[in-house]
Amino acid sequence: MADARPFHWEFTPPPVPREIFRVEGGRPLHGRVAVSGSKNAALKLLAAATLTGERCRLTNVPEIEDVRVMAETLRDLGVVVDHPAANVYEIASGDVDWLFVPLEAAAKMRASFILLGPLLARFGRVIISNPGGDRIGRRPVDLHVDAMRALGASIDYRNGYYFATAPGRLRGGEVRFPFVSVMGTENAMLAATLAEGHTVIRPAAQEPEVDDLIGFLQAMGAAVKRTQPDTIEVEGRKRLRGADHRVVPDRIETGTFVIAAAVTGGRITLKGAPCDHLGAFLETMGLIGVGVTCGSDTIEVDGSALHDGGFRACDIETAPYPGLATDLQPPTAVLLSQANGVSRIHETIFEDRLEWLSEVRRMGASVEVLDPHHATITGPSTLVGTEVEIGDLRAGASLILAALAAQGTTTIHGAHHVHRGYENIERKFLDLGASISRTAEGQ
Ligand code: EPZ
Repeated sequence: MADARPFHWEFTPPPVPREIFRVEGGRPLHGRVAVSGSKNAALKLLAAATLTGERCRLTNVPEIEDVRVMAETLRDLGVVVDHPAANVYEIASGDVDWLFVPLEAAAKMRASFILLGPLLARFGRVIISNPGGDRIGRRPVDLHVDAMRALGASIDYRNGYYFATAPGRLRGGEVRFPFVSVMGTENAMLAATLAEGHTVIRPAAQEPEVDDLIGFLQAMGAAVKRTQPDTIEVEGRKRLRGADHRVVPDRIETGTFVIAAAVTGGRITLKGAPCDHLGAFLETMGLIGVGVTCGSDTIEVDGSALHDGGFRACDIETAPYPGLATDLQPPTAVLLSQANGVSRIHETIFEDRLEWLSEVRRMGASVEVLDPHHATITGPSTLVGTEVEIGDLRAGASLILAALAAQGTTTIHGAHHVHRGYENIERKFLDLGASISRTAEGQ
């Protein structure tokens, strides 16, 4: 499978209207907030709907920018995408006439690459741009390409685009990953549902969003199941049918609000937030001293330990599910800045998901980034409002948390990053008693 290692295609997406958040910190959060559907499930479910020409209906879809980008990308392909009500999408991929996923979509959102598997499996050919997305590391897609080749596809790479074809039909086979890849697993699984024969994928990602996708595929008539914790097996089908599906709650948004209550010393109730997808995270919260009580689909958070200096330093290490989610590492880092003692962070998944800590340091946190994978945080530090800049989605949400905990006013530039992945985030914080506003840059 020798092919020149794809150079990392840099595309400057069209300018997004720049917005800022203004946050008045120091106010404990109180009240109830509902958790939205998962971004990282919804984007793949939308792509999976292209595996059939029949209508699919998705509910509890978060109203976020990345979903709008995915819907537009599908429409550009000729897919009928209706948005009949808030949080509801209906998709019908009859005659998809133009199998070209353009640079603009890919540059805005890495997840556009999840279209490779379903479009290749259903239509036998696709041209798709090398993706962009968050600035948290090189994030190549070589594992996705290798997986398609293992299923019989031929893929060339030229000038920033992958040209993929599946002569006849994809054929089932053994997809072996050198390490866990969430979207690599999902792309391989989507492609295998229409391939000829049996496919075994391992190590398969175990994230809850992957299982949500499996549930949808099974409702579509796909013969796919998790036969071992880290193994997914698929018996290809000639065609799939339309199905309805409700998107699983967003565990990353849930964890973000747990920490919002903790760093402001507040007490909140999260609705529609099952604890069972947050095992490692809630264990970490317990070690730090955040009070968390799980109901059937609620989480009660008590952050009052903040006021008597009761948060304890804690070493954290990210890992593929069921380990501590890398997407919850930035919010947890903000909490650790308020804990007593020295905490060590080991970010094992991405190579520069610690860079953003320099912004928290500017607010007064005592942070030392040792290398692209390791940092230490010494607390408790008094955070003071200032001007900060968001670089990526999860860092953006975490800077809001730091601003909520800080004394005074924080101006956060790059608010559009946050709206890629958090539905109505300022409204939700306002409902919990925060002082936060969003305005266009320069106003
Ligand atoms: C998914 O990204 C999520 N995104 C990420 O959430 C999440 O952080 C990540 O999984 C890990 O949990 C979506 O689901 C849309 P990976 P993904 O493939 O699938 C390397 C957010 O903010 N790798 O599991 O792209 C990669 O560089 C985002 O919602 C290759 O080397 O992540 C990373 O080091 C951020 N080659 C590691 O594998 C490949 O072909 C794990 O990445 C693919 C990945």
